[in-house]
Amino acid sequence: MTSRPPTGLPDAQTFLWGTATASYQVEGATTADGRGPSIWDTFAALPGTVRDGKDGSVACDSYHRLDEDLALLDRLGVDAYRFSVAWPRVVPQGVGNVEGRGLDYYDRVVDGLLERGITPMVTLYHWDLPQALESRGGWLNRDTAEAFADYAMVVTERLADRVGLWATHNEPWCAALLGYAAGVHAPGRTEGTRALVAAHHLNLGHALAAHRMREAGAGDVGIVHNLNTVWPERPEAADVADGVDAIRNRVWIDPLVDGAYDERLRAIAPELADPDVVREGDLDLIRGSADWIGVNYYTPDRPDVLDEGEVDAGAAAAYPGVEGLTFRPRGPLTDIGWETDDRALTELLVATHERTGLPLLVTENGAACVDAVADDCRVDDQDRITYLRDHLAALERAREQGADVRGYVCWTLLDNFEWAEGYTKTFGLVHIDPETQDRTPKASFDFYADHVARHR
Ligand code: FCB
Repeated sequence: MTSRPPTGLPDAQTFLWGTATASYQVEGATTADGRGPSIWDTFAALPGTVRDGKDGSVACDSYHRLDEDLALLDRLGVDAYRFSVAWPRVVPQGVGNVEGRGLDYYDRVVDGLLERGITPMVTLYHWDLPQALESRGGWLNRDTAEAFADYAMVVTERLADRVGLWATHNEPWCAALLGYAAGVHAPGRTEGTRALVAAHHLNLGHALAAHRMREAGAGDVGIVHNLNTVWPERPEAADVADGVDAIRNRVWIDPLVDGAYDERLRAIAPELADPDVVREGDLDLIRGSADWIGVNYYTPDRPDVLDEGEVDAGAAAAYPGVEGLTFRPRGPLTDIGWETDDRALTELLVATHERTGLPLLVTENGAACVDAVADDCRVDDQDRITYLRDHLAALERAREQGADVRGYVCWTLLDNFEWAEGYTKTFGLVHIDPETQDRTPKASFDFYADHVARHR
């Protein structure tokens, strides 16, 4: 314990520079100290789900290498570290019994950060749902929203004396649409438009948790979204682009700002107009329930209509109910196939601030590059540096245009388990030796450290 007061959202004159990780992507130790199984343990064990057939059981072994990670953060010179708490470490079965040893680990993370003058930014749900809850329907079951709020309070009670900056969910679009519609993320279900029921329960879980946390004095409670600019390729694509905007952006932001799901969404998923699903009071609870919005940005969306005879099963699955959709990213693409266009970051931040009126943090931004690793494990990742430099400039333009952005968090500190891509795609500022988990900062680490030092 330190006596340092909790640090919440910075004021408009202060800017937080940070970097991020997520529990399942870095911690490893998936059976240590009473941790229960998560949906990602289950999903990654199935053949064909993860590109290299690997999982997060070791990952960067951060559970056992906290001191090394803290030393890297210290050397990077960041103001903030965004990490996530693994729900199954703290409440192994999702509800009920609390595992003190799991909470002890996060105590050590928080204390280690504060000792180094680094603000902890805690995400409560970065996709590792306890498997026991998935076995009862996961996010399609409304009870999961209540269970999430109970779990959030367990973490709040332990950490809120030292943590003042919280996010409930990370990218619920991925949790709902990739997890329950496209089936390419855990739990790997293909439920079509019913994934929007999962979306509602994620919105509800956020709101239930945020209200209770705030009442308990937790500080500033926000939510992190991968909102996106939607740039239709041609006039004929206006309708599919509206469908993409509905499922990618409006299903999250409209209830937060207006307390409503719009006509298009209710047409795609009639459950959103069903009073047994969206119950009386739900939308009132969700409206106004975020103190800030986290924006994760990597790449713009360029929706288009399919040409004659063309199929795009991936787009159809991830955007159920939007008929005839494809995406046409323009090169240059990063190693994960994502278009690079920093103008979209400026546009997105300005638009999100105008739409929500809330303070924003860029909670993720970074690039997957083909990293050539030298014999001494150094990586001279000039492509990543170019990406970061361009996007940091785009962030500045957004601020000049009036977007109230209070921080920038680079994804990610360490090369780590990149979900369905396994360890094949690297976003890290630090290279990890896959055999030894030895850490070696890349050239981008030095670039970012220098940027942070010069912009304080
Ligand atoms: C985001 C995730 C993060 C990481 C980056 C590359 O969608 O939140 O965990 O995988 O993409």
